Amino acid sequence: MGKFAGKMAAKAVKTDNHPARANAKVALRRRVLASIGAGEAQVFDAFAGSGAMHRAVWHDAAGYVGCDLRWFGGDRRAFVADNLRVLRAIDLARFTIFDLDAYGSPWRQAMIVAARRALVPGEKLALVLTDGSPMKARLGAVPADLAALAGVPREAAGMSKRWRELTARALTTLAGQMGGELLEFWAADIGSRPILYSAAVIGGRSAS
Ligand SMILES: C[S@@+](CC[C@H](N)C(=O)[O-])C[C@H]1O[C@@H](n2cnc3c(N)ncnc32)[C@H](O)[C@@H]1O
Repeated sequence: MGKFAGKMAAKAVKTDNHPARANAKVALRRRVLASIGAGEAQVFDAFAGSGAMHRAVWHDAAGYVGCDLRWFGGDRRAFVADNLRVLRAIDLARFTIFDLDAYGSPWRQAMIVAARRALVPGEKLALVLTDGSPMKARLGAVPADLAALAGVPREAAGMSKRWRELTARALTTLAGQMGGELLEFWAADIGSRPILYSAAVIGGRSAS
């Protein structure tokens, strides 16, 4: 996926879904839903927020459960709790899409999913990530979880420019841990702010 052109507001206000970012996020999720198939899509929306992605895409999935520190009301099924605790506690086997729409780094949550959700041969699963950590990496270090998964040092020059490569490497590692391999990988950013949107479709390796 190419770069999404989008004009960002001049002032740096942290909103859950700025319009330019929301368009990129929606496009990515539509691809994921098409690849997994709406009938097979059981979504765990770990940073569910006010439900913009649910309204735009995930309401078409066969199943949906959200999770957020805050309760937003409405009739979406949701855990109102820290996703780090919920992802470690519940049975993840039924979920085929994990949406990790974080403000910062989503990699700790992705590592928990990979550790607890083994794939059976031929099965397809998707991870959808919003990663705001390149912004921090410009000033300092790559998050430890991502550095470990991508096999790169935390303190190295120019890492924020290599974020797509790091992301693909990390997702390849996670896919292997789940007993799968990367079938599809998309990444998009919106140009003016170093936030990377990405998604991977992972297929369970056939036993040989
Ligand atoms: C970028 S917004 C998500 C927007 C959302 N995906 C939507 O479609 O509207 C990030 C959300 O993550 C929540 N959040 C942050 N850390 C969390 C955590 N550890 N566990 C659960 N939710 C968390 C915040 O409360 C916030 O609502």
